[in-house]
Amino acid sequence: MIRQNSIQTILDTVPIEGLIGEYVSLKKRGSNYIGLCPFHNEKTPSFSVSPSKGIFKCFGCGKAGNVVGFLMEHEHFNFPESLRFLADKYHIPIEEDQPDESDRASLDKQDSLYIVNQYALHHFQNRLFETEEGKTIGLSYLKERGFLEETLKTFQIGYSLNKSDDFSKTAMEAGHRLELLKELGLVKDYNNSLKDFFKGRIIFPIRNLSGKPIAFAGRVMSNNVKAPKYINSPETPVYEKGKTLFGIDLARTEIRKHDECLLVEGYTDVMSLHQYDIRNVVASSGTSLTEDQVRLIKRFTKHVTILYDGDQAGIKAAIRGVDIILKQGLTVYILMLPEEHDPDSFIRKSGTDEFKKYLQKNKQDFILFKTKEQVKSANNDPAQLSLIIHNVVDSIAVVPDPIQRSLYVRECAHLMHLDENMLVSEVRKKIRKILYDKGKLNTTERQKLNELDSNKQVAPRQANKIDQFYFFEKKIIRLILSYGDKIIENDTSVVASILSNLDGIRFKHPVYNQLLELIRQHYHASDHPVFADFYKHHADDQIRKACIELMTDSNYELSKNWSEKRGITIPTEEDNYVNDVISCMTRYNFLCLSDLIERNNEAMKTETDADKLKQLVKEHQILLDKRSTLGERLNIVIVSPDHKSRFDV
Ligand code: UTP
Ligand code: MN
Repeated sequence: MIRQNSIQTILDTVPIEGLIGEYVSLKKRGSNYIGLCPFHNEKTPSFSVSPSKGIFKCFGCGKAGNVVGFLMEHEHFNFPESLRFLADKYHIPIEEDQPDESDRASLDKQDSLYIVNQYALHHFQNRLFETEEGKTIGLSYLKERGFLEETLKTFQIGYSLNKSDDFSKTAMEAGHRLELLKELGLVKDYNNSLKDFFKGRIIFPIRNLSGKPIAFAGRVMSNNVKAPKYINSPETPVYEKGKTLFGIDLARTEIRKHDECLLVEGYTDVMSLHQYDIRNVVASSGTSLTEDQVRLIKRFTKHVTILYDGDQAGIKAAIRGVDIILKQGLTVYILMLPEEHDPDSFIRKSGTDEFKKYLQKNKQDFILFKTKEQVKSANNDPAQLSLIIHNVVDSIAVVPDPIQRSLYVRECAHLMHLDENMLVSEVRKKIRKILYDKGKLNTTERQKLNELDSNKQVAPRQANKIDQFYFFEKKIIRLILSYGDKIIENDTSVVASILSNLDGIRFKHPVYNQLLELIRQHYHASDHPVFADFYKHHADDQIRKACIELMTDSNYELSKNWSEKRGITIPTEEDNYVNDVISCMTRYNFLCLSDLIERNNEAMKTETDADKLKQLVKEHQILLDKRSTLGERLNIVIVSPDHKSRFDV
């Protein structure tokens, strides 16, 4: 445990503008700095850093925090990782509470295991690059396969001499304890004689998120020996197989940047793609994915694209285990490679650009892919078909987002030539079964709901959406006219912040839109907001009227009178304008997104062109992601129109 006073020292010492300045290009504005927000896409800067307060804040997406928060968000470190990173970078000594005896022992133990692995890694690298055998056998094999030295160095590839005790002897002479060498699986004891486990193999270090070697894989070089192609380190206190992904240390920032993780099977696939500049890629190492691995990916993105060989075995392997990914709310795409290829061979043949094009053009939503594949293989056999329905329903039912779910239902019903309502009720039944199995639904509830399904009513659509738009548009104009020149935080004025948020947006109300345009023009011409009085005397009749009306809003007056009469303070708009602006803009953005989603939904219903539909589905996902982020901030639980309550899923 890092002591509180050390945490404070770190927070007091680290210059926030210096740290963030390494990630974002910042410009000085008064006592603060501004720049383009690294957490969302924007063209005009709304990301502000305040050295005096030691915080950053983005007025576009709302992310805010101190130096530690910035690293947690940007680098996906956890709290202690961020602190240690900063302490290291700024040479700040940290004090830790004395761990108790057994904690200390296990920490010491872990440290020693890392040290030995690090030693082994250097040993194998030395053997690959500095010995005759390494160069003629190992290095020439790797080069023949097309790997550049740079790639080999990046992945710290090594070679273990084809000699029983080269490693064990050297390691022990260097003072490493046999006990640890054995525990790490680097050395084996055969009838009282020691033997190097990876003897005569190419070494692939497996590293954790922070790049420390935690295990090794060794590959034979000739494909026709009896020995297994790869052998791996055993599990140890520093290596839990199901919790690591090969390449994650190099891929993490790239995954975030592309908001997508490419998942391949093999070590060499990761290395090849990396060599060809495709770096948001990790390998599951031949086994099917675990929940922990999915959670690891989820720290960086919600989109996983699985790359598999185009043969039948590849398809089967891809289908296995995907429900685990779906269950965690990730969207899964699948890319089938041409039949004779794996990612390694395919990128070598196609090159980076063509590979990227192929990826964009051919990746498919996993659930739709699975449905299509199964429909194909069922060959219209009714018995087969009912099996498939169950299978597809199983996948759809684990998707946590109801809107996403109903989208799948519609698409899959179409693919299987089924009635949509029938599939809806199957999915609902399945969800109820899951809830029931978890003890969240009792038998009667479950039965009742299943019965109700047959005469289910469709919830009415929101009729007054346009009124909601007018409401917020009016409020936004009023906030600008009343508080436009006030500072919302740091150096940003209310009018600047609102206009940057409304970049490119037109209001639906014609007069409010006219007002908005006038405000924009005025602001861009003078850098200052305009005041209500200006518009109250405007030549245009309608503008004058609207302006007077919106400045004498009854709610606003009410709270003023109320506090004057009763002598109590109710937070008026005046006291509260900062919160008011933020909350109003967030809610307005939410409304706009919902509107877009709805329109996109309508378009998807009628679109018949496959490519355009794909594009719409992609946009839909992006919009949903945005809205759920906003929704979290508003604490709104998003339910689709016909999924109103927990029981009515
Ligand atoms: P592959 O057989 O596809 O190997 O196994 P590869 O990674 O493409 O290697 P190259 O290109 O032939 O050199 C895929 C993954 O399955 C695991 C490894 O993680 C491998 O990268 N595997 C495979 C094993 O663990 N043991 C084996 O014997 C074979
Ligand atoms: Mn391969």
